[in-house]
Amino acid sequence: MLKNGETWYDTEGNTIHAHGGYIINYEGFYYWYGEDRRDNIYVSCYRSKDLKTWEFRNHVLTTNSPTEGFRIKTHLNLTRPNSEGSEVLKVNIERPKVLYNEKTKKFVMWAHYENGVDYHRAAIAIASCDKPDGDFVYHGYINPYGYMSRDCTLFKDDNGDAYFISSSRDNEDMQVYRLAEDYMNVDEHVRTLFQSELREAPAVFKKDGKYFILTSWCTGWAPNQGTYAYSDKIDGRYSINENFGDENTFFSQPAFVLPVEREGVTKYLYFGDRWGGSKEAYFTSTYIVLEIRFDKNGMPYIEYDEKAAL
Ligand code: GAL
Repeated sequence: MLKNGETWYDTEGNTIHAHGGYIINYEGFYYWYGEDRRDNIYVSCYRSKDLKTWEFRNHVLTTNSPTEGFRIKTHLNLTRPNSEGSEVLKVNIERPKVLYNEKTKKFVMWAHYENGVDYHRAAIAIASCDKPDGDFVYHGYINPYGYMSRDCTLFKDDNGDAYFISSSRDNEDMQVYRLAEDYMNVDEHVRTLFQSELREAPAVFKKDGKYFILTSWCTGWAPNQGTYAYSDKIDGRYSINENFGDENTFFSQPAFVLPVEREGVTKYLYFGDRWGGSKEAYFTSTYIVLEIRFDKNGMPYIEYDEKAAL
């Protein structure tokens, strides 16, 4: 049994490093991508058939990942120079999300890109791969339509349209973009959300035609009160933010929401990061998974359970 907030191990007995992550379901497997800050690694990938047993697959993005330019103007460095000018230091890649593109048959990753020193670069890195767990090819980073872009997520709608949502303007607001057909660029900026509400860590899911966005407030590695807002259209008018979870979201910050079929019904699993609480304690970070329940008005809530809802 996986317990919330405990260290989880893969099938080889190693700690699972998949923070700020995302899960997709592809050909009978769940693939879990997330931050892995060890050594020269940026993003690791694990897979599972039952969400309980996780097999390590690959360090899918590292400082040595292959790079390839495409139709955008960008830089292709996955390292930064040290004081002697050697390209050996890491940049910072956070909250990686991956979607499968049906048209191109590629797995496309979007992740928060930082310069490795502070959080002022605020851009979005893009990478892609022919396989869910192969070596992703890095394509550089962008500031969509000039916006800053920090905590972020991807969401694929039922018709295949995908959206990228991220915190902008020093986290004051959040932007929503529809992606290009191949998911390799933004196609249109469709909405600005939560003006000066300082929301971050977005996680999006759709239920009964409503789009829900879970977010946290902006307190670095320390947990705070989560909220949800909803709309009938992803680029429509949103409700005001209402509380989700307790005053520290059960010591977690949203990573993503995974819809799963159980006994013929769709359940929505809240995956939260329980961060170590500081940069130094980052490697002690763990995860919590709780089933999202819905009240009589269809509004989401979570209750704490020490058992992960997997
Ligand atoms: C959090 C953010 C994390 C990470 C952290 C750094 O607010 O959600 O992804 O960037 O700040 O302090």
